[in-house]
Order: sequence, then structure tokens, then C-alpha cells
Amino acid sequence: MQTTTMTTPDFAAITARQQATWASGDYSAIAARIPVISELLVDAADLRSGTRVLDVAGGSGNTALAAARCGCDVTSLDYVPSLLERGRQRATAEGLPVAFVEGDAQAMPFPDAAFDAVISVVGVMFAADQEASAREMLRVCAPGGTIALANWTPEGFIGGLFRTIGAHVPPPAGISPPPLWGTEDRVRELLGEGVREMALRRRRYTFRFDSPRHFTDFFREMYGPTLKAFAALDQDGRESLETEIDGLVRRFDRLGGDGPVAIPAEYLEIVATRS
Ligand SMILES: C[S@@+](CC[C@H](N)C(=O)[O-])C[C@H]1O[C@@H](n2cnc3c(N)ncnc32)[C@H](O)[C@@H]1O
Repeated sequence: MQTTTMTTPDFAAITARQQATWASGDYSAIAARIPVISELLVDAADLRSGTRVLDVAGGSGNTALAAARCGCDVTSLDYVPSLLERGRQRATAEGLPVAFVEGDAQAMPFPDAAFDAVISVVGVMFAADQEASAREMLRVCAPGGTIALANWTPEGFIGGLFRTIGAHVPPPAGISPPPLWGTEDRVRELLGEGVREMALRRRRYTFRFDSPRHFTDFFREMYGPTLKAFAALDQDGRESLETEIDGLVRRFDRLGGDGPVAIPAEYLEIVATRS
């Protein structure tokens, strides 16, 4: 008789590897292209001045700064010190009092109900243990508070990028793909009874580059997941991945050709009320 053994993923080991991945390259260069996603999410969440806001997996501060500009009392959590440092520099330059805290979204260093709003832009979706990070967001959000997320969808361009990378360098066994956070079913499953109202909206951000290859080179240099995938492959694998990412860009590009590209990347915007 054949038996199947279900092993629990080693989340601590996977998280350590993922932390090293996000610390590689320079994610702040990617973030510099997408602040509009943060501005739109903060607006959709209707954050008012004085609200205690936590930006989860906040990277170099796009969302934290957007909320701080509204007069919110903002804390930004991430596990990559260099990105937090970049966020601090940006906040100082703008004269905004944001607290940047090093920590794991799956075990946050905050008391229960410490915040009136918990937000994350393409951030918490990347924590390996989705159930744990969902539980933590609900725990630190006060009853009646807001949980607002922007998550890349599986069908969208970045969902496609992760599938393309995963076909060359398989993701860790047993963990849910990050873009599942970009589906209504999975969001409802993860937040469950912890929220009582939820508004969902599909939106698109358009990446713009000089050419398909410019996108591929930029992400290969700056974006940890792409950088690490190329680094794990031999020469043939690298050429094949490069060709496939170029092809993905061409499939999504609205302009066509070898010149400038405009790549709509779909994400799911979620604004929920904590029960
Ligand atoms: C795609 S970036 C988005 C950063 C930021 N939210 C933004 O919009 O610019 C993903 C971020 O999630 C952070 N991250 C992923 N898993 C995390 C975890 N378990 N705990 C804390 N940060 C995490 C990474 O360090 C990285 O900064």
C-alpha cells in the first residue's frame, strides 16, 4: 500500500531564505515606480488624521509615507534593515514622523489591537505562512478598524512573472503561492470571520520601460526574486528564463514591438472592516 506523507513546511528556514531574497538587489528602485498603488490604497481606506496605522512588509516606505502625509500616526514593519533605512531617509527628507520597525509579519512585535488600520501594498502577500500573517494582521488591528491590502493577482502580469520564475526555479514545497492573496476566495478564507465588511476592486498599474529587455534587465538587477532565480541557474537556464520573461512582457505590453513597453499589471485592492 502506498502512503502519502504530508510534511509541514519549515517556515523558519523558508522565511530566512526569503528575507535574504528581499535583501538582495535593490527593491527600493522597484518601489520608486509604484507609489501610486500606495496612494490609491490609502485613499480607498479613507484614513483620517490621527489614525494609528501599521504598514506591514512596508519595504522602503511607500505606503507608510502616503499614510503619514494624511496626518496618520504610522509604523512601518519589514524584515529587511536596508529597506527600513531607506524609508527612514525618505521620511526625514519629507519631515514625516514614521516609526520603522524591523520584524516578521508572521509574528509581529506589537500588542493586540495596537492599530486602527493595518495596510500592506504587495507586501504581506509574500510572507511564507499566509495563515500566520493573516492572524497577525487581525490580532494587531482594533475592532472596527480597517484592513487594506493591494495584492498582485495570479492572472495579472506579476502573477505571470512568478509562474515563469517558478517553472525554472521551483518555489519551496508546501507553501501557498503569494498571488493567491490576489483572489477573493483566498482573501475571504484567510480573513474569515475576522472581518465583517469587505470591498474588493481589481486595479491595474502600468509598468513602463524602454523595451522588453530593459524590463527584464531591470528586474534581474533590482528585484530579489528575479535576481535570485537567475543566480540559481546555469547559463542555459539563464538564457531560457531571460527569453521567457521577455516573452511575458511582450504578451502583456499594450504598445507592441521592440521599443517602449506599457505593461498593465493587475492587482486586487481590498478594504475590510475588522469585526
Ligand atoms: C514587493 S515588496 C513591497 C514593499 C512595499 N510594501 C512597497 O509597496 O514598496 C515586498 C516586501 O515584503 C517584505 N516581506 C516579505 N515577507 C515578509 C515578512 N514575513 N515579514 C516582514 N516583511 C516581509 C520584503 O522585505 C519586502 O520589503
